[in-house]
Amino acid sequence: VSRARILGTGSSLPRRVLTNRELEGMVDTSDEWITTRTGIQTRRIAGPGEETHRLAAAAGRQALDMAGIEAASLDLVVVATLTPHMMMPACACFVQAELGASRAFAYDLNAACSGFLYGLDLAAAYIERRPEMRVLLVGSENLSARTNWQDRNTCVLFGDGAGACVLGGGTGAGGVLGASLAADGSLWELLCMEGPPSMNPALARPEHDGCYIRMAGRDVFRHAVRAMEDAVRAVLAQAGVGLEEIALVIPHQANIRILRNLMERLALPEEKVYINLTRYGNTSAASIPIALDEANREGLLQPGDLILLCSFGGGFTWGALLLRW
Ligand SMILES: CC(C)(COP(=O)(O)OP(=O)(O)OC[C@H]1O[C@@H](n2cnc3c(N)ncnc32)[C@H](O)[C@@H]1OP(=O)(O)O)[C@@H](O)C(=O)NCCC(=O)NCCS
Repeated sequence: VSRARILGTGSSLPRRVLTNRELEGMVDTSDEWITTRTGIQTRRIAGPGEETHRLAAAAGRQALDMAGIEAASLDLVVVATLTPHMMMPACACFVQAELGASRAFAYDLNAACSGFLYGLDLAAAYIERRPEMRVLLVGSENLSARTNWQDRNTCVLFGDGAGACVLGGGTGAGGVLGASLAADGSLWELLCMEGPPSMNPALARPEHDGCYIRMAGRDVFRHAVRAMEDAVRAVLAQAGVGLEEIALVIPHQANIRILRNLMERLALPEEKVYINLTRYGNTSAASIPIALDEANREGLLQPGDLILLCSFGGGFTWGALLLRW
């Protein structure tokens, strides 16, 4: 059996750091409120040359370097994003060109904050069918471009960045072992972002009120905890693995209180959960691959380790995925 293995990881963060103190000067909030309610202290905000595809390409280049693979030998580039800088072409096409991945086909995937997990499951399916395939999967976001900077309920939460991994087939014990993915579109209004207004008057929405992220924070919080718990239990049951066998959990980085709630429900010790939201806030599809790359570079992922990823986001979409490193 050939399994999809992660051969290299990378990440790229904008230079500009936005602190809670600075936000105090922008909306009616405080460092104390943001820190205690979210755990976030700083986030990165994209500047010139740090568009979604640029961050994605920089993260991708790092992942290729680590994997020791030339861009020209990639077969597929997928970018998980909800903030591409253009509707067409896909962000992945810009990345393909910038890296010189001339053999690869390329497209974007939008599953909001679950995009990277959905993408990993997809890459694993391709590689199972064709083990010689080399796939670059990136999660990249410019959420700052779609943030209402007058809305204190959302503007303190989000940040920009990109994380990437290169996948290929392997016949050893390592690789993607399984995933449990889910969605519930009936709850879309609790976390959403409209696109640009329609140019077709028949399809225009009179209630269109800007291409911003809108969120019912409390409802999202409640659903996020329960959904991630269910997904984690489902993927572990499917793989016949106990939670105590997991070396590290790398969750979507949205809010420290969501993660503490999840840890409590699962009886998961905090030292088994990788957390970097303090520094980057919620970077949506980029959050898991950035955390994965940092954990990898810190030496926290050892060959044979069982690693569990889990996410929740707009859609709603959610899931959990189990890897052996
Ligand atoms: C957004 C979130 C941090 C708010 O925390 P909360 O404890 O639920 O707070 P509430 O929404 O009940 O708001 C409490 C008060 O704080 C206020 N508040 C909201 N944002 C604030 C801010 N940045 N600074 C100060 N006060 C703020 C609210 O207006 C409200 O005031 P009110 O009682 O006068 O109406 C929390 O709901 C959350 O994390 N939700 C999930 C968000 C998320 O991660 N989404 C993405 C998932 S992918």
